[in-house]
Amino acid sequence: MSTHVAPVGIFDSGIGGLSILQSLQNERPTEHYVYFADTAHAPYGEKGEAHAVARSLAIARCLLEEHGAKALVVACNTATAAAIAALRSQYPTLPIVGVEPALKPALALTRTGHIGVMATRGTVNSAKFIDLLGTLEGQARFTVTPCDGLAQAIESQYRTKIRALIQEYTSATGTFGTETGAIDTLVLGCTHYPLEQAEFRSVLGPDIALVEPGAAVARQLSRLLGPCEQRERTGHITWLTSAEDNGPLMQAVNRWMPPRGTH
Ligand code: DGL
Repeated sequence: MSTHVAPVGIFDSGIGGLSILQSLQNERPTEHYVYFADTAHAPYGEKGEAHAVARSLAIARCLLEEHGAKALVVACNTATAAAIAALRSQYPTLPIVGVEPALKPALALTRTGHIGVMATRGTVNSAKFIDLLGTLEGQARFTVTPCDGLAQAIESQYRTKIRALIQEYTSATGTFGTETGAIDTLVLGCTHYPLEQAEFRSVLGPDIALVEPGAAVARQLSRLLGPCEQRERTGHITWLTSAEDNGPLMQAVNRWMPPRGTH
């Protein structure tokens, strides 16, 4: 390992950001990463904007000052909506990439012109999301559902609850299908949800497009950073959590991250 190459800092309220980290690793496999799961302070989406801003600033400080991060990926829609402006004003020269519900990619995919969006309450009520929806007005019909409890159920891998909530919130969103008027495209607007893509698929069937932003976030990081400084070896990942026990994070890592170079 080349210790002199600075890592990319990445954080989420918990394990959701692993869905983004998978794409970062695919795009930049030789990069080093430091991942912070803020499990002790989740769910961001149900604790208000000030909480997400305060936690994002505290985590950014830790990743930059204690771990020397050269860039920051806010792998959480809720934290991006609440705190990206504050992070950019605190660190004006730092490359920072956020995550927002992938409405524009969904527009390119829909044939029925009806798109469902599932996200946390914090994201759907944020000014940033409302502005984004406003810019797309008239281009498609968007039906937006706040999904209280779903990120937390995924965080704790509570299977029966995950399935029940996915059923409840997809049916609250509307009728899915490829016929006129039906929703044929679903935006997974919280980074926890793509981890359960198979569950969404089994509830919605094979014809519905599920849209998540991982690859776009990874490309944006590459635009900001250019080629990796260290190219020969697989990068390593440092795992941090605010939880007392890192067992659940490491279980999630074993399940969702390919076993390469973790420590
Ligand atoms: N994974 C986070 C997101 O993308 C939110 C989960 C939470 O509510 O803490 O919005």
